[in-house]
Amino acid sequence: MAVDILIGLQWGDEGKGKIVDVLAPTYDIVARFQGGPNAGHTLEFEGTKHVLHQIPSGIFHPHIQNIIGNGVVLDPIVFRTEMQKLQDRGVDASQNLFISKKASLILPSHKVLDRVSEEALGTGKIGSTLKGIGPTYQDKIGRVGLRIGDILADDFQDRYTRLVDRHRKTVEFYGQTLDLGDQEQIFFEAVEYLRTLKLVDSEYMINDALNSGKRVLAEGAQGSLLDVDFGTYPFVTSSTTLVAGACTGLGVAPRHIGEVYGIFKAYCTRVGSGPFPTELLDEVGDQIRKAGNEFGSTTGRPRRCGWVDLPSLKYSIMLNGVTQLNMMKADVLTEFDTIKVCTHYKLASGEVTDQLPHSFDTETVEPIYEELLGWKVDLNQIDTVEALPEAFNNYMTFLEQHLEVPITIASVGPDRKSTLRREKASV
Ligand code: IMP
Ligand code: MG
Repeated sequence: MAVDILIGLQWGDEGKGKIVDVLAPTYDIVARFQGGPNAGHTLEFEGTKHVLHQIPSGIFHPHIQNIIGNGVVLDPIVFRTEMQKLQDRGVDASQNLFISKKASLILPSHKVLDRVSEEALGTGKIGSTLKGIGPTYQDKIGRVGLRIGDILADDFQDRYTRLVDRHRKTVEFYGQTLDLGDQEQIFFEAVEYLRTLKLVDSEYMINDALNSGKRVLAEGAQGSLLDVDFGTYPFVTSSTTLVAGACTGLGVAPRHIGEVYGIFKAYCTRVGSGPFPTELLDEVGDQIRKAGNEFGSTTGRPRRCGWVDLPSLKYSIMLNGVTQLNMMKADVLTEFDTIKVCTHYKLASGEVTDQLPHSFDTETVEPIYEELLGWKVDLNQIDTVEALPEAFNNYMTFLEQHLEVPITIASVGPDRKSTLRREKASV
């Protein structure tokens, strides 16, 4: 069988957690392949909201095996809290959760390095979630990092000390001192807990599963425009958030890739710094933020809001080979008489294009919009595609014709139930 992959096409927070949760029952395995506790995947069902950071969104289905893949950077402290929260809600994840021995370990000192590095950037700061993501991936690529498998080694404490000594020197280079307070003790307790869980060679687990006909869903984190190569560099995260990241982050060969679900919001949001051509700095932006409750699920920061941006969506679709689109949070736009869609950019030179310029981070790009009629109907109450208002269908058709990929799911509310599957797409 193939691995289906679900990724965000914008700057993260598209609603990936919800769709994984909805699709999960048809899969045997759900696997995370990159990112770490910078992610916040929100799931809502039976009147309760759950936010997951590192644990795959298939965890609420006991028959599904959930894997934290080798491409993930894992913070044992955050992880332990996450497991405890699940436990408090009656979910025992210890039986259906598997962690790759090759996943990277986030140390308390990585979080200090993240903060010190952001402070040094001043006004040019990335807007990092300060969860230690960048410094941990730096250590991985620099070949000095620690991995989950290392916690099983007799000399783990020594390896830890050696790495923290390196970090101390870096922090001192920035003119600060490394003070970890009680975090080291909490870290070692969390590592002790990790040792009791299923630490595996997940590349074998996944490939064995594929060979025996099992279905695997890979769950992306962040979004394509935050990808370290193709995102709005340097305002990106430190991992490959694209479909290609699932190959290296799980040990799956490209020929095993099946469906690619591209998740996007009916509008656009971004947290942190960096370019955002369709950003609305006026009351319309405030209205979207309020209606969509657009505040970070990891950091609580207000998210920047704007209209949907087709050039960047086309780019993400191209890079990922998206086969199906899932449009999220359309209900948030219900109150608007008209809705704008950015179809092209006007560059500083006057050139009009639907491609992303290399100088995206420095050049002011002016969005060119088409305006569509709003639907002004409360979509939350709608439970069949047939009942969708005409203006809403027109909006989806307009997007499909530009993007040339069918929208197979339209999500019109946060609950599992507000998920409409479309058979008849217009492309
Ligand atoms: P970092 O990944 O914490 O280093 O943050 C780098 C950039 O990616 C910042 O702009 C963050 O706000 C953004 N970012 C990281 N993770 C997420 C996410 O899961 N959703 C949305 N933005 C994210
Ligand atoms: Mg999120």
